[in-house]
Amino acid sequence: MSTLLLLNGPNLGILGRRQPEVYGTATLDDIESAVGARVAERGWKVLSIQRESEGELIHAIQDNYDSVGAIVNPGALMMYGWSLRDALANYPAPWIEVHLSNVWARESFRHESILSALASGVVVGLGALGYELAASALLELVSPAGA
Ligand code: DQA
Repeated sequence: MSTLLLLNGPNLGILGRRQPEVYGTATLDDIESAVGARVAERGWKVLSIQRESEGELIHAIQDNYDSVGAIVNPGALMMYGWSLRDALANYPAPWIEVHLSNVWARESFRHESILSALASGVVVGLGALGYELAASALLELVSPAGA
């Protein structure tokens, strides 16, 4: 069965309880379910990994080169995660960067992502829906097996 990697960085395991006025009320479980439902039509399963540390996120990438694609919310690592960037540069499948909040409407230190240039696309500011949209995009970007 094909696997879609859903990767979330620091402070995203507490979604639902983390500044809901900024990040919404959906939990990471809710997001995993919604993404799973979106990609079920293609027979993909979702491997959801959330870690607080950059090294563990890098292991998650290196251990899953056989996944069909990835959705990555790097959290604050968007701004300084150079090792994560190097790991994503070697990830062989398409991946999409997602941010729940509209980082452009927030503090200026959030206005740069060192990862975005490597992504197939970026979804910003649409809350939990952003993950589902990223999943839909990957369904388009990844050819059906054998096509
Ligand atoms: C975030 C935005 C980042 O700036 C922040 O550090 C996060 C969450 C988002 O999903 O909106 O942890 O990636």
